[in-house]
Amino acid sequence: MVEVHPNVEYVMLTGQQITRRVKMVAKQLDKLYEGRKPVVVCILKGSVIFFSDLIRNMKTPLTIDFMAVSSYGNGTKSTGELTIKKDLATDIKGRDVLIVEDIIDSGNTLYNLKKLLNARAPASVNIVTLLDKPERREVPMEPEYTCFVIEDEFVVGYGLDYAEEYRNLPYVGVLKRSVYENA
Ligand code: PRP
Repeated sequence: MVEVHPNVEYVMLTGQQITRRVKMVAKQLDKLYEGRKPVVVCILKGSVIFFSDLIRNMKTPLTIDFMAVSSYGNGTKSTGELTIKKDLATDIKGRDVLIVEDIIDSGNTLYNLKKLLNARAPASVNIVTLLDKPERREVPMEPEYTCFVIEDEFVVGYGLDYAEEYRNLPYVGVLKRSVYENA
């Protein structure tokens, strides 16, 4: 039994549930990229755990790269403007690009990121996300692959943070309100 962090209200997705789903999605991606060699892009920092589990379950030959972007400025509300904090080292012209995200909320980050990467003339751009909160959408953004559609709760763990903490929890949990309301 995994010990639940005292600041976590309840576990929304166990490590086991995530592992099972990640394996299924990895298989679908193998099928999609059969005969090709995608560059799989980890969007730092939240996707790092999902990314490393996903690529280890993919059998297709692939290369990896990392990108850090922000559409939040210093606040908590998405601004709609994308700042690149770390760009890709790979030239993606003519490549199949798979963007790996931990969560889609307003959709602003991926909407802008997809536009930005498409301008570099890749062969294709697909998005795979661990979590999707469709209720929160502000712009049209449909990921090609979603592991879990979730309710609008404040989730942490398995890469997701609150004030940079909780990323190492081996499950996705709902943070207790008291943690962020009294901050
Ligand atoms: C999170 C998440 C997405 C974005 C989703 O990143 O990883 O990139 O927010 O929100 P949106 O759909 O409303 O744009 P965050 O800026 O918290 O950075 P992190 O991954 O380093 O935690």
